[in-house]
Amino acid sequence: MSARIAPSILSADFARLADEVAKVEAAGADQIHVDVMDGHFVPNITIGPPVVAALRRVTRLPLDVHLMIEDPDRYLEAFATAGAAFITVHAEAVTHLHRTLARIRELGVRAGVAVNPSTPVSHLREVLPEIDLILIMSVNPGFGGQTFIPRSLMKVEQAHTLLSSTGHRADIEVDGGVDLTNAADLVSAGATMLVAGASIFGTPDPAAATRALRAAAGQAR
Ligand code: DX5
Ligand code: ZN
Repeated sequence: MSARIAPSILSADFARLADEVAKVEAAGADQIHVDVMDGHFVPNITIGPPVVAALRRVTRLPLDVHLMIEDPDRYLEAFATAGAAFITVHAEAVTHLHRTLARIRELGVRAGVAVNPSTPVSHLREVLPEIDLILIMSVNPGFGGQTFIPRSLMKVEQAHTLLSSTGHRADIEVDGGVDLTNAADLVSAGATMLVAGASIFGTPDPAAATRALRAAAGQAR
């Protein structure tokens, strides 16, 4: 068993993004995780649709866009047009989650929902048919390089159980503090995508770190 590896450019050199992405693409990364922050939903500001569009031109990998923003409905079309393959919104940031997820799919993009560490996985039960991707936040969103919250492992298991017991299919992505020490356990618990920022772009050799994370994930039971 293994999982797709999604390097997060949050910890990359933003002045050399194309080079950074090329390194992990050559090393076999499966998708590029793009963290969008608005300074409201989270206390940090990053990038928007123009950077996603620029990345779309320099890589063949799917762009996995994680919106840590309030009222994401206003920007879905812009990120879809920019070339997102996945758009993930936060359950905590959306009032009409069913409608938002349907809108993402209407735009031809796979629809994801992220849950913060304090939000139970069961919150997603009623919208499972609309979900392509459940993102379990294993840190409080806003910054790279934080420490993995151990209880997240149980939330991955809960998401896996919720999907299998209801007959729904969706990816389970884990984001925050993922590294060589927890990758195998996360995949064993049901994770199908691992996001990694600091443990890939925070190292001197992002290509080697990508391969090492894949190998670690492959040790899953
Ligand atoms: C955190 C972001 C993450 C971040 C993960 O708010 O959503 O995607 O880049 O970074 P690491 O892997 O460094 O915890
Ligand atoms: Zn993220």
